[in-house]
Formats: sequence, structure tokens, C-alpha cells
Amino acid sequence: MWRPPQRIKHELPSGDWPTAEQAAASRLMSPATIGPMPLSSRTWVPAMVPWRATEGGLVTPDVLAWYERFARGKPGAIVVEATGIRDVPSGPLLRIGHDRFTPGLRQLVDTVHRASQGETRVLIQIIDFLRIRRRPDPAKFFARFLTITDRHRAAYPEAHSDDEVRAQLALADPQALAEVLTARELEALQFGARERVTDTELPHIAELPKVLPELFAAAAGRAATAGFDGVELHYAHAYTMASFLSRHNTRSDGYGGDVQRRLRLPLEVFAAVRARVGDDVCVGCRFLADEAIAGGSDLDEAKTFARAFAAAGMDFVSLSRGGKFEDALPPKVGWAVYPYTGPSGYECMPIVRSDEAGPFGRNVAPGASVRAALAEAGFATPVVVTGGICSFSQAEGILARGEADVIGAARQTLADPDWFLKIATGCGEAIRRCKYTNYCEALDQKHKVVTCQLWDREALDAPDVPLSADGRRRLVAPPWRR
Ligand SMILES: Cc1cc2nc3c(=O)[nH]c(=O)nc-3n(C[C@H](O)[C@H](O)[C@H](O)COP(=O)(O)O)c2cc1C
Ligand code: SF4
Repeated sequence: MWRPPQRIKHELPSGDWPTAEQAAASRLMSPATIGPMPLSSRTWVPAMVPWRATEGGLVTPDVLAWYERFARGKPGAIVVEATGIRDVPSGPLLRIGHDRFTPGLRQLVDTVHRASQGETRVLIQIIDFLRIRRRPDPAKFFARFLTITDRHRAAYPEAHSDDEVRAQLALADPQALAEVLTARELEALQFGARERVTDTELPHIAELPKVLPELFAAAAGRAATAGFDGVELHYAHAYTMASFLSRHNTRSDGYGGDVQRRLRLPLEVFAAVRARVGDDVCVGCRFLADEAIAGGSDLDEAKTFARAFAAAGMDFVSLSRGGKFEDALPPKVGWAVYPYTGPSGYECMPIVRSDEAGPFGRNVAPGASVRAALAEAGFATPVVVTGGICSFSQAEGILARGEADVIGAARQTLADPDWFLKIATGCGEAIRRCKYTNYCEALDQKHKVVTCQLWDREALDAPDVPLSADGRRRLVAPPWRR
């Protein structure tokens, strides 16, 4: 992962925890209303992929145990991990692209409601992503994957056949390759081939605006049938919908170019989803306060996006930042490029060794600007902000200053799923505090079951503890013994 050169070690924000009475009177623990959805507190667990579904994308007992563990800490809301809207194989990631996924998801909803004694609302983040190949072995790339074109043939006029061109390319040094291969071919070699929303010469990419509204609507309809309280449209990070919003989207079919055209598909998707689930299901989206890449969408555009989403009738907007493919580091051969390895990835999940700004609340000021822009335009759409928020005073300050309406905390809640409950009950001293060194994120990158370094070796021999396949890590945080 890319790291800021400054490498300044930041201290965790103050652990000045409230008494139960102070917590009860706090903004953080006060109720809120997100569209049709009441929240018991302004605490929110953003989507985190734990790699626990079946290869076919179905809910497993380990998926249920993961969400049950979060629900026992009684946050206001849990957003279930990015869940694929298509009925295509995508490894052990949850899917919602067919009715066969609905019963398992219904069990998941029931599990969260039951484990939180009805206090936690549960949303599902629904996602579309484009095809991406693993970084190839160069020998195989030149022997098989690369399509030989006249450009390659011209570079090796002495070659008598395409096979000889392939052989020459396989022997070429990096500088020669940089001249002979196109930028996309070089990318396919060094990162693995990756489709973009601008590849409109490919029919399945050209037709995205035709097919995505119905795919998202059908997925949201299944979420409603499964009993989810809400749906979060994934318009963030490196995936299809974020790529439509991005300044890098130059499509010329009315769905790219200026900001209004880039907003068109995200708004059409939302309209289709709303038409399918009605007003009783909470629908909002997660998008980026800043793409944090060269030439990408910035905070000014984020304000425009937020106003457009609010005007369309979204019930909330949830802000993340960065997490793009454009500046990701090359993966190892055999691995897929991971959009959290470059500077924009750092913005998304910053670690404790950081620049002057530090990892804590890095997205708060941009979030506050988005919220102010909404207010100026006359919208009270709730804003969820996430990124390095891990203390009561930090969260309470954000709410008191009107910088956000709801506080998201991903890694701190992974480190201690009871942390919100510990705050509420005056037991803040017992909170297991996230170290922000991204052991969990490294597991995600390797597509391994995600756990936290602070608890995954604890009491491995206790009865009924689900363990990773190698038996060396527990899959859920140990229970809180008061
Ligand atoms: C293991 C892991 C998986 C994640 N998966 C998702 C995801 O599915 N969807 C998403 O929008 N963000 C995902 N994120 C990003 C988090 O939701 C959050 O934005 C990020 O970790 C920064 O917040 P934090 O500082 O509170 O951890 C993931 C983060 C981690 C650590
Ligand atoms: S593994 Fe590290 S960064 Fe991840 S939740 Fe645990 S302490 Fe935090």
C-alpha cells in the first residue's frame, strides 16, 4: 500500500469516554430519522466485505455470525457489505442478482434485528462492477492473451509470423515494450486487463445505461422482499456507478462528459429503484467526497452530486473518499489490482502513520462542505460521514458542529463490535481501540476472510468459536464479558 512520505505517527483521539448519563444525553446516542427509517442512535456501521459468502454468493452461517456479532453492539444501522446485483460468478462475495439469494438474505435481516433486540436497522449495499483480470504471467500474456496487431508486426518486421512477433515481444525489455504496446496493453500486462465504462466499443459496456436501472431495481426489490430496512446504492470507489460519476467518464452517448450527463445514469438507477421499492424502504447512496486522483471528481463536484441526489429524493447520502484503480499499485502476478493501494486508496482507509492531516476524521471537513451545500440548497437530507472516527468526543464534536448527521465507523467497529454499546453504557474504558494499521484491509486485498489482529488469536479453543479454514484465526470478536 502507498503511504504518505511524512510517516508521522498520530496518537489516537482522546479516550474521554462519557458516563451512561452523559451518553444518554449525547447527540451521538440521540435518535434520528433517515427517510422512512428511524434510527435509535446516530451510529452507523458502513459496508465491509468479510469474504464469508459461498463461491456462489449465498449467505453462510459465517456471514450470519459476522453480522450477528455487530448487531449485538446495537449500532443505529449496519450496512451489509457490497452485494453484487448480477447473477454472475464473483467468488465469495454476497450476491442479490436472483431470487434464490433472497431466503439467505432474509435470514441475515432477521439475525440482525433479533441480535440487536430490534434496535439496529439493516441496509444492504448493492453494487455493480466491471470485469477485471488478474495480472498475467508475462509468458502466458505474450503467448496467448495479447491480440497481435499491425502495430506489433510493424515493430518486428523481420518476424515471419504472429508467433514470431509473440516470441520477440516476450524477449523485449521494459523500455521497448513501453514503445510497442498500447497503454491498455501495457496495463493488461502490468496490472491485468480492466474494463472501463468508456469502452463503449464493447456492446455490454455500451448498453450499461439500458440494463443497469433494471438490474439495480430488481436487486432492491429482492432486498425489500428480504426485509431490509434500506438500500445503499454503491456509487463510491472504483466501481461502475462511481465511474459514471467520475470526471474521467468521457462517454459520448449522453451518459458522460459534463457533470449533468455523468449524473444521468446514477439518477436513472435511483428512479428505477425508488419506483420498485416505494417510499417505505430507505434508499440512499454512498459516493465520494473526492476521488483523490489526478483529473478526477473533487469536492465541488461532490456538492453537485449531493444536491442532485437530494433533489431526486434520496433519503441519505453517505460519504467516502478515494479508493480508485487509476493510481493503484501493480499487483503481484496472479493477483487482481486492488483499488486501495495508491494515494487515493490511502484517502479511503488511512493508517496511523500519515501526513500532517492524519488518519482521524480526514473526510469530516469535506463532508461538512457537502452538508452545508445541501442546506444552502434547502435540503435536509441526512449525511453519513466515515473515515477514522473512533472516539466519543470526535463523534460528538462532528454532530455538535453540524458537520454530519450520522457517524460511520468501519474499522473501529471491527476492532470492537460493542464499542457503541460500551459508550452508551458508560463503559468506554473497556473499548478495544483500533490501531489503524490495516491488517484487516490486507486480508481483504488477498481475498482472505477478514478478521482483526486485536482479537483473532484470542481463546481459539473456546467452545463453538468459528475458525478460519486453517484453524488459526477466530472469525468473530470474543464476547464482551462485563
Ligand atoms: C475489510 C474492509 C472491507 C470494506 N468493504 C467495503 C465495502 O464493501 N463497501 C464500501 O463502500 N466500503 C468498504 N470498506 C470501506 C469502509 O466502509 C470505510 O469507508 C473505510 O474503512 C474508512 O472508514 P474507517 O476509518 O471507519 O474504517 C471496507 C473497509 C474494510 C476495512
Ligand atoms: S485489524 Fe487493525 S486496522 Fe483493522 S480493525 Fe483491527 S486494529 Fe483496526
